[in-house]
Amino acid sequence: MKGVVFTEFLDFVGMKFGADMVDDIVGDCDLPSGGAYTSVGTYDHTEMHALVSALAARGGAAVPILLREFGRHLCGRFQKGFPQFFEQNATLFDFLESVQDHIHVEVRKLYPDAELPSFDTHHRDEAALELNYRSCRPLAALAEGLILGAADQYGTSVSVEQKPITDDTGTFVRLAIQRCA
Ligand code: HEM
Repeated sequence: MKGVVFTEFLDFVGMKFGADMVDDIVGDCDLPSGGAYTSVGTYDHTEMHALVSALAARGGAAVPILLREFGRHLCGRFQKGFPQFFEQNATLFDFLESVQDHIHVEVRKLYPDAELPSFDTHHRDEAALELNYRSCRPLAALAEGLILGAADQYGTSVSVEQKPITDDTGTFVRLAIQRCA
């Protein structure tokens, strides 16, 4: 997992829970990196799970809630770092559908060793978008937060539901995004 995700996560923890919490959770985990991340470095994604679990154990909230809140925060940072991806898409659903074939393709050019999930559209109509999230990393809650963060950027109010699916293509999570009236 790219260092930028870790540096943003520790910034998020510092802003939400204070600088001491950052030191505490890094101290709680036996991290191969020692918790010294650079944005262009690459680290084992299990370090993220260790850090989020440590934050949960210190009373932060349950792991999926923390991942979702972090995803929401991260999307705000992506908007600042990569405004063109938002400007190129007129609506939230267009933006979300561009993650697979455009945004993450550009991300891979920037970070050739990025470990990216896949999102294929299962269904789209005026009010709903269903994306199949496939990854060997269990980060559907992060995806949910990124979607909610993008919805904030577009000023579109949505709900997101996760549906675990197993079919002949494998096991994945369907993210059902519903526009609120
Ligand atoms: C401007 C928009 C975006 C940018 C620049 C971006 C960039 C990135 C980067 C740099 C990573 C880390 C790759 C690694 O650790 O090796 C990542 C991972 C990820 N991205 Fe995006 N992303 C964007 C939008 C989104 C959106 C809207 C979603 C959700 C629909 C999403 C879902 C994810 C997930 C879930 C991961 C974690 C890896 C995994 O699940 O396997 N991204 N993205």
